[in-house]
Amino acid sequence: MAKDTLVLGIETSCDETAAAVVKNGREVLSNIISSQIDLHKLYGGVVPEIASRKHIEKINQVIEEALNTAEVTLQDIDAIGVTYGPGLVGALLVGVAEAKAISFATGKPLVGVHHIEGHVSANYIENKELEPPFLCLIVSGGHTHIVLVKEYGEYEIIGYTHDDAAGEAFDKVARAIGLGYPGGPKIDKLAKEGRKDAIAFPRAHIEGAPYDFSFSGLKSAVLNYINTCEMKKEEINRADVAASFQEAVVDVLVTRTITAAKNFGINKVAIAGGVAANSSLREAMREACTENEISLFYPSPIYCTDNAAMIASAAYYEYVKGTRSGLDLNAIPNLKIGQR
Ligand code: KG4
Ligand code: ZN
Repeated sequence: MAKDTLVLGIETSCDETAAAVVKNGREVLSNIISSQIDLHKLYGGVVPEIASRKHIEKINQVIEEALNTAEVTLQDIDAIGVTYGPGLVGALLVGVAEAKAISFATGKPLVGVHHIEGHVSANYIENKELEPPFLCLIVSGGHTHIVLVKEYGEYEIIGYTHDDAAGEAFDKVARAIGLGYPGGPKIDKLAKEGRKDAIAFPRAHIEGAPYDFSFSGLKSAVLNYINTCEMKKEEINRADVAASFQEAVVDVLVTRTITAAKNFGINKVAIAGGVAANSSLREAMREACTENEISLFYPSPIYCTDNAAMIASAAYYEYVKGTRSGLDLNAIPNLKIGQR
């Protein structure tokens, strides 16, 4: 039998300091996440400088815990996978410097990972049968993309957002209705008490680009609705606003992904990123996929939001292909998908 391959994953691109040990790309031996959300909540969003400082404070402890939980030492690890972009440059640098130091000290190979490719790979962890090719809807705080995963680590962008990312729209609308940061999970919860057909918010169509998105008009429509109600001194039903807004987002995400899958002749769809944890998106996508005889894959919520197990999984598939990063690996805040 072939020897098992253990990858230590490190993720510090935003506000979670995370480390994980993953066996053969799919079996999670440990997944440690130290979240800074409570700290950033005080400011209504992520403060980059605070994020970097917290990562420095936590990183060693988080890695040690990941190794201890997996019951391995650095000597047992075959490769170190680290997110090097996209993300906050100061935050990314902490993980990258740490990974390079471990690689230098142990002589173990280093593999730089694209954060969004990590999100896609989160689907491999619990769906052991999932293999490319498949279509993936990536919806996070910074990205909204439909990509064709042609092979492990090989992506073709089919559609993208022209302005706000889906998660960004959730966070901005949540702030407007006084729910605070992070908005996605709070809107998800409140929407369950509201009517999704209460307010007709717009769905933007982009001429000649059937798989692209735009959420800034929707965000403005919600803000206008709130302002108009306030001017008329009408009470705002926040649950109805949350449910109707969420429905508008989910509707375009689902219809465009299904249209792309049908047009490209792909019968496997996966969803990834923080917004993939949204209960309404999961339900609507399940229904649409069943109706169209498409197999649907999604990670558990803990693997949808930022974590290092997904980074270790992505790093594994790069490692077996022979990809190695040098000690000159740098943080690239605006790294594009498929760029190396
Ligand atoms: O992937 P992620 O953890 O970080 C980025 O790479 O951006 O995604 C964070 C985004 C935030 O905008 C957050 O509000 C959103 O994912 N999110 C959700 C839910 N959980 C997290 N959005 C909608 N519903 C949720 N349940
Ligand atoms: Zn992310």
